[in-house]
Amino acid sequence: MTTAAVRRLTLTNFRSYHAAQLELRGNSPVVLTGANGAGKTNLIEAISFLAPGRGLRRATLEDIAFSEGDGGWAVAAEIEGMAGLATLGTGIDPPAGEDAAPTRQCRIDREAVSSAAAFADHLRVIWLIPAMDQLFNGPASERRRFIDRLVLAVDAQHSGRVAALERSLRSRNRLLENQQSDPHWLDAVEHETAELAVAVAAASTSGTAIAATKMRSFIELSYGRRRERRLDVTCGPPRDVVRFPPLVCTTGPRKEARTPDRFCQDTKSQPRFWL
Ligand SMILES: Nc1ncnc2c1ncn2[C@@H]1O[C@H](COP(=O)(O)OP(=O)(O)O)[C@@H](O)[C@H]1O
Ligand SMILES: [Mg+2]
Repeated sequence: MTTAAVRRLTLTNFRSYHAAQLELRGNSPVVLTGANGAGKTNLIEAISFLAPGRGLRRATLEDIAFSEGDGGWAVAAEIEGMAGLATLGTGIDPPAGEDAAPTRQCRIDREAVSSAAAFADHLRVIWLIPAMDQLFNGPASERRRFIDRLVLAVDAQHSGRVAALERSLRSRNRLLENQQSDPHWLDAVEHETAELAVAVAAASTSGTAIAATKMRSFIELSYGRRRERRLDVTCGPPRDVVRFPPLVCTTGPRKEARTPDRFCQDTKSQPRFWL
């Protein structure tokens, strides 16, 4: 995995920033400090728009625009990523009329691209924030999705594996819906589902371990140089910051589960992970 770094971040009419530019050198992690309301989260939110979706706060495109601006906003980032140096840009134009719905525009090296999905060729952005605490005590499907995003950051093949598993699970659910389904066909689909589930689980375990190791060495490296100053951090030494307990997973649909799965129209025995 190449660790992508943001070298320069330029904000125009983004949240509380009318115009701001941040230059970043070196590969140390960046800690933002400042009073409440100073604009720390706004900066991180801007970086979160270097990924597809609605960003860290899941805001509407209009809410992000600086309240005293023209209604448009832009984030541009010079990054050193998986394909070398690149400039990624995204934002919306000022609204053309009262009812005009804004669309997010994206550019790579000033050339328009169809969506922010294209940014993934350069960098992958993931976040874990307090608003996502449901991840720990919510449904297992949310945890699976988070792990998949994390693994995708280090293994580009992962989305293909997950899509194949989802297709296979849908086939099984469809076959179960039909009471007259050929049991041999079900056997074959369950066999395929189990194989794909094992592949996804194996990639998740190794991918998560790689991501965790990268994060840990990144944090230790940068703290290491300033260990003297940082050791008294009340939450403990830096190596405690990232710790992934082993992932426990169960795999594959079970034959015995056909009747209950048919009843609830879902395959309940999917790979399950515990964070
Ligand atoms: N669209 C906007 N236009 C102008 N200011 C905004 C906009 N959205 C949020 N803000 C301001 O940004 C500030 C919050 O910034 P934030 O990054 O959340 O602060 P913190 O440093 O505490 O993380 C608030 O003062 C809020 O009024
Ligand atoms: Mg904040």
